[in-house]
Amino acid sequence: MKNDTQNAPIGVFDSGIGGLTVVKELIRNLPGEDIIYLGDTARVPYGTKSRRTVIAYSHSNTEFLISKGVKLLVVACNTASSVSIPSLRSEFDIPVIGVIEPGAKKAVSVTKTEKIGIIGTPSTINSGAYKSAIESLNPNIEVISKACPLFVPLADEGWIEGQITESIAEKYLSPFKETGIDVLVLGCTHYPLLKNTIQKIMGDQITLVDSAQETAALIKDILIEKNLLNDKGTQSDREFYLTDVSDTFLSVAGRFLGEKINKIEMVDIVGTTSLPSP
Ligand code: DGL
Repeated sequence: MKNDTQNAPIGVFDSGIGGLTVVKELIRNLPGEDIIYLGDTARVPYGTKSRRTVIAYSHSNTEFLISKGVKLLVVACNTASSVSIPSLRSEFDIPVIGVIEPGAKKAVSVTKTEKIGIIGTPSTINSGAYKSAIESLNPNIEVISKACPLFVPLADEGWIEGQITESIAEKYLSPFKETGIDVLVLGCTHYPLLKNTIQKIMGDQITLVDSAQETAALIKDILIEKNLLNDKGTQSDREFYLTDVSDTFLSVAGRFLGEKINKIEMVDIVGTTSLPSP
C-alpha cells in the first residue's frame, strides 16, 4: 500500500494553462515524479469570478484528480488557492498544497523594510489571502496589494516584453515605488512570464518572489518528509487534461511549460459541478 501511494502521481490543477508555470518548476525540482495536470480551460478565468463559484470549480477539479489516484494535490492557481484551500482540506483526504503560503513565507524571509507588495487577479487581491498569510507569519509587516488584471491576457497573448506591456506594467506598478516595499510577490500563475518586464519597471533593488518556484520547493520537502518520493526509477510520466481544447490553448501551453506538449486530452467535468447555495 505504502509503495502504491509513494509512486502515485502528483495532481495539479489550475483555472487554465497558467498553472503550467508550477508544473515547470515541479519538473525541475522533482524530475522523478509523475504528474497529472488539469487545466479548467472551459471555465477560465477564475480571477474575476465569485468565491463561491471558484470553490465549486476547485472541488470538481479535485474530484477528477483524485479519481486518477494522485497522492498529493497542488492548487496551482493563485485565485483558487486564495479561496478554496480550507474547504478542500476539510473535504478531501490527501495533502492539499496551495501557492499562497509558500510565496508568503518566502516574501517574509526576504524583506528587510518589512513592507511587501502583492500583485494578483482581482479575486486573489480581494480575498486578502496573501495579506493574512504574511501577517500570520509576522504581524509587523505592512502589505500593499494591487490587482493587475491585464497581465493575464498579455501573458496569454505572448506579449511579455515591449512598449505596450511596459506601459501597462508602469501604470500598475508605479504606485508601489512610493511605498518602500523591497519585495514584490508575483501572486498569479501568469506573472512569472512577465518577470523581466516587471523587474525592469520595479528596478533591481526589488526582489520578485515567484510563488511557483516556492511551491515546488515546498512540495519536494513535503514528499521527502512524508517518505513519498517516487522511487520507481523509470522515466517519469506526465498527463495533461483540459476541460476545453482549442488550438490557441495548445500553442500557448508550450510557452508556459517551457517545452512542447505532445498529448492533451479533453475531459468533461463541467456538467457535473453543482454550485453551493450563496
Ligand atoms: N490562474 C489564475 C491565477 O493564478 C489566473 C488566470 C485566471 O484568472 O483564471 O490567479
